[in-house]
Amino acid sequence: MTLPVFKKHDPPAVLAPMAGITDAVFRSICVEHGCDFTYTEMVSAKGLKYGGKKTEALLAAADNEKPCAVQLFGSEPDIVADMIKRIADEYPGEIAMIDINMGCPMPKITSNGEGSALMLDEKRAAKLMYAAARATELPVSCKFRKGWDDGHVNAVEFAGIMEENGASLLTVHGRTREQLYHGEADRDIIRDVVRAVKIPVIGNGDVFSGESAKAMLDYTGCAGVMVARGARGNPFIFGEIRAALSNAPYTPPTDFERMSEAVRHAELFLEKKDPKLFPELRKHMAWYTKGMRGALDVRRAVNTAGSPEEMLGILRKFGDQLLTTGE
Ligand SMILES: Cc1cc2nc3c(=O)[nH]c(=O)nc-3n(C[C@H](O)[C@H](O)[C@H](O)COP(=O)(O)O)c2cc1C
Repeated sequence: MTLPVFKKHDPPAVLAPMAGITDAVFRSICVEHGCDFTYTEMVSAKGLKYGGKKTEALLAAADNEKPCAVQLFGSEPDIVADMIKRIADEYPGEIAMIDINMGCPMPKITSNGEGSALMLDEKRAAKLMYAAARATELPVSCKFRKGWDDGHVNAVEFAGIMEENGASLLTVHGRTREQLYHGEADRDIIRDVVRAVKIPVIGNGDVFSGESAKAMLDYTGCAGVMVARGARGNPFIFGEIRAALSNAPYTPPTDFERMSEAVRHAELFLEKKDPKLFPELRKHMAWYTKGMRGALDVRRAVNTAGSPEEMLGILRKFGDQLLTTGE
């Protein structure tokens, strides 16, 4: 059961929204590697309403990912519905789906009753979905967790409430809010949600390889998998998943190939974004170089580089070294 928005493969492998990480540059690289669908980083509905330029900038999508999902967070049904209408009008043809964040665990979000706090307030969450789904012809989905904590595991009931109120698709991360990103994601709860609703469910949590994507699909019966941390510094994971799902052989990238992709990521970033933001690249470069011989030194150099040109020079040199050592 696949929504038409997931245009490439069935079952789809999608890139999760990750604030501060999955910008349009990284998303476009993931699409090149076979990612089937992308989401913007979470965007504050209130921030949009009150005209934050930084918030507005988060809506920009790369050409190869359009149409993609816009993920909004908020707790006030009227504001969320108004912002959905606005962005659907402003970006015709660029948005395939609106996703409402009901899983973010960060205190600065939950203290406003947003993100995963909505799992503790099912009535508000229901009103929010009802208003969102009626604000647009686009499908509206929501992304939530297993529950708030071990005493409040309500993903199955919550899924039913979202479905009743107009959600077209659900994404479930198999951890509670209290767990943040610790412990193992619970596949049983994802399977239970899949069985409880008629709409498609995307399984999320601990997909770090082709094999784990296959295990998520086989065990839970979910309609697709969502990858978050497994894609950091590793857009290749989408090719790996596709190979695993079609029983095709997969050859992992060499260190040189990974580094070439890191350099390309940095170049694209500097071309598409404000080069003054180059320190944002540091974390990506640390992820790309993880486990490579000499990575510690290159990371240190990248972290102290005073300009984008210096950073690029360090990365290119490291890539060339890997080529000569055949790694
Ligand atoms: C740094 C970071 C930022 C995140 N930002 C978002 C976000 O903006 N919206 C959202 O729904 N989830 C966000 N998440 C949660 C992920 O989308 C995903 O649900 C979670 O990491 C579990 O998947 P994984 O085990 O594949 O990492 C974020 C996770 C991380 C680690």
